[in-house]
Amino acid sequence: PRKIIIDTDPGQDDAIAILLALASPELEVLGVTAVAGNVPLALTQLNARKAVELSGRPVPVMAGCDRPLRRALETAEHVHGKTGLDGAELPEPTLPLDPRPAVDFLIDTLRIEAPGTVTLCILGPQTNVATAFLRAPDILPRVQEIVLMGGGFFEGGNITPAAEFNIHVDPEAAEIVLKSGRPVTYIPLDCTHKALTTRARVERFRALGTRLGEVVAGWLDFFERFDVQKYGSEGGPLHDPCVIAYLLRPELFGGRLVNLEIETASDLTRGMTVADWWGVSRRPPNATWIRDIDAEGYFRLLAERLARL
Ligand code: BDR
Ligand code: CA
Repeated sequence: PRKIIIDTDPGQDDAIAILLALASPELEVLGVTAVAGNVPLALTQLNARKAVELSGRPVPVMAGCDRPLRRALETAEHVHGKTGLDGAELPEPTLPLDPRPAVDFLIDTLRIEAPGTVTLCILGPQTNVATAFLRAPDILPRVQEIVLMGGGFFEGGNITPAAEFNIHVDPEAAEIVLKSGRPVTYIPLDCTHKALTTRARVERFRALGTRLGEVVAGWLDFFERFDVQKYGSEGGPLHDPCVIAYLLRPELFGGRLVNLEIETASDLTRGMTVADWWGVSRRPPNATWIRDIDAEGYFRLLAERLARL
């Protein structure tokens, strides 16, 4: 199986991404590293453990950075609720927090595993990974690939008119990861806004007839209400599991190699991801930018995999 580390700020959609990965035999989850984002670190590490425990397939969960590299933390309780996982009650996890700091775990794991065999899946602000890259540049060439949820260009932003939340919260970290020289794939709002949790799709999770299916449906009921009120769509975008689905079934997605630049200076457009889809800048391509998804195939994959847990 392909080795991955999931770096995350759960978040209902992050939690579902963790479940999808742990349900999938093609992937070996070496660890889950939590970062401050949707809610503060004390909650994201707890929520990550709750998700891992719910899967019944324990892997180590580490806590990482509690704030962005150079800015005050902005959180998103207005989307995810006070706990970050509102919508379903879960017990206190018995899985303890692994005592290793997440950044050390990232560095040590990349040094121990064979070069080019570990993929980093980033589902929140990119602070943990950027800190590891700054502290231990020797790990850069050892990273196989980076696949992340973040950004948005054609769809505009969801936290400011110009920026998507994960990039807006820590644009300096995103820039470090982008300039790492490793292959980077962006799954931006341009893609995830096409992956909507319609009623029928949510009911498919409930119809699994398991405790886990019930929890996932509860999360989605809660999570989507924000976007439905806001955008008047048929459901909320299920962002983060797209990263895992992309590793499992890349043919469900469409995009191309583009030049990507991240705005870090302007207050107005901070965290904007300028994707040169038409190649007008003549700057060299440095990221794969995903715009299309077979949403039905994606939700079928999710239901089929979550049924295994
Ligand atoms: C991203 O921000 C978070 O709210 C979600 O978990 C996702 O990673 C979407 O902008
Ligand atoms: Ca997230």
